[in-house]
Amino acid sequence: MCGIVGYIGEKDAYPIIIKGLKRLEYRGYDSSGVALLNDQGLTLYKRKGKVSDLEEFTESKDKSGSIGIGHTRWATHGEPNDVNAHPHVSGDGKLALIHNGIIENYASLREELSNRGHVFHSDTDTEVLVHLIEDVRKNTDLNLFDSVRVALNEVIGAYAIVVLDKENDDELIVAKKSSPLVVGIGEPGEFFIASDATPIIEYTKNVVYLEDEEIALVNRKGDLKIVNIQNQPVTPYIQELELQLEALEKGGYDHFMLKEIYEQPRSITDCFRGRMNLNKGLIKMSGIDSYEGKWKNAKRIIIVACGTSWHAGLVAEYLFEDLARIPVEVEYASEFRYRNPIINEDDIVIAISQSGETADTLAAIKLAKDKGAHIFGVCNVVGSTISRETHSGAYTHAGPEIGVASTKAFTAQVTVLTLMALTVARKKGAVSDEKYHRLMAELSTIPDKVERVLQTNDEIEVIAEIYKDATNALYLGRGYSFPVALEGALKLKEISYIHAEGYPAAEMKHGPIALIDEEMPVFVIATQGPSYEKVVSNIQEVKARKGKIIAIITEGDKDVKGMADHYIEIPSCDEVLMPLVSTVPLQLLSYHIALMRGCNVDQPRNLAKSVTVE
Ligand code: G6P
Repeated sequence: MCGIVGYIGEKDAYPIIIKGLKRLEYRGYDSSGVALLNDQGLTLYKRKGKVSDLEEFTESKDKSGSIGIGHTRWATHGEPNDVNAHPHVSGDGKLALIHNGIIENYASLREELSNRGHVFHSDTDTEVLVHLIEDVRKNTDLNLFDSVRVALNEVIGAYAIVVLDKENDDELIVAKKSSPLVVGIGEPGEFFIASDATPIIEYTKNVVYLEDEEIALVNRKGDLKIVNIQNQPVTPYIQELELQLEALEKGGYDHFMLKEIYEQPRSITDCFRGRMNLNKGLIKMSGIDSYEGKWKNAKRIIIVACGTSWHAGLVAEYLFEDLARIPVEVEYASEFRYRNPIINEDDIVIAISQSGETADTLAAIKLAKDKGAHIFGVCNVVGSTISRETHSGAYTHAGPEIGVASTKAFTAQVTVLTLMALTVARKKGAVSDEKYHRLMAELSTIPDKVERVLQTNDEIEVIAEIYKDATNALYLGRGYSFPVALEGALKLKEISYIHAEGYPAAEMKHGPIALIDEEMPVFVIATQGPSYEKVVSNIQEVKARKGKIIAIITEGDKDVKGMADHYIEIPSCDEVLMPLVSTVPLQLLSYHIALMRGCNVDQPRNLAKSVTVE
């Protein structure tokens, strides 16, 4: 994780860096720091806590300089404190470096360097890297650019780095492997460097995404020189950003999470717009159409993902098995890759990732690719590493998601996966014409239904007030609603710190039922569908143990309404599409509970949005 920003040009570097770090805070907010070059030499400020703490700390200090680097940290090696904060400085004080990633062989490098007289002040792997670069430069005739490349040849692990030389305010050196890095090209002689394009967008639309094991030099003459780690020159590929600045602002909402929850009618529409043509009765998924044979002949689909994206994968398991009749396995990306999995050439691997940067998901697809499987990516961030590593894919078009707890990205993922399952089902002849057209038509009504759920916000707030002090919560669902229960529980625990578990409703009696007493809120997704009656029985089992039932029910339902302590009514729809609607009240509920408990909704403790470490 961690976010990095660099600037060189005519402007004041500090405000650009601070603003950029705030945009990247979703990547971690344990500490932050900046290094600036000015008449005083190298000025370094580092602070535990958020970027706003750093800003406060530097308020009356000298922040001049038109070249600088900044970092916001998600701690891996060493606790979050001022010393472990980046930038880290070489032993001779000449180099400052920021880093996102993990240097896996840092312990042996540290020992080697210590034996050669290097003294370390922090517990970080990053400090080892800057000493290593210093060491190479001292013991060879190489300039900084070449020293960085030579040093990186000794490194095992992941890195996106920017190096600043105290004695040369004309250039910055950057490099990347397995962690993202973008170079923005501004006015002549001006460059912006960042972990993603969000800190760059208001200055320039022209960017170069560095590839793995590339090292670049940018300077005031306007040069952008790139080589790979073997020192072969690489021609920069300049791309134009499509991102809009307004998408990165709160737009009148108190929190990004709330804004993103309310954006869902729009983001779901954006997801199927241009793909689904109701008049012609067609869905166009070019990533599937161009590999039609592979999809039609697929023996199995393996889905790899983490966190909320993994829950979207579970919904997809129901969708693909139910509609397209292809067996599906849903895997935690981190477990999949360490299990020597059996992967065949007629398997299709779907990687789901909002950020497109999650290290475990990336590693899982690399493994599957090596074994010959066809890889399909479902990503939100355009141009992200996973979207580039896959054979084909479909973007979710949800727009930037900034709240650490994923909301609109989840419903967009489920929308794309629904379109995919319908497309494949149609190609295979596994779904009837009637069902195909009915589901398409119904999908087009989902944004309105989500809108109606959003109108129940005030009722949801009242329920949140009643349960805000709970210490535990249980979420139950069956069939398509089981992944929704898992996602509801995850939302609550990640932002309100209430311990919550999602369970298949029937499985509850094999363990969690022991936890139920009059203190325990049990959130049940009890919408109309094939398992409705069974869920009603599960509700009775909870009631018999005096548990409190908060039910998500279909409008017009009478039975559950009579049994539940509280209920939230949502519009009816086919159970295949229900997760898109039933997830929304649970998002709002978590939001309000977290807010009432005084939690930082957008930046929950210990979490980060883009997990680029394994
Ligand atoms: C982190 C985030 C989650 C996200 C997960 C997977 O844990 O906090 O919100 O679901 O990573 O991220 P991805 O970008 O791959 O969907």
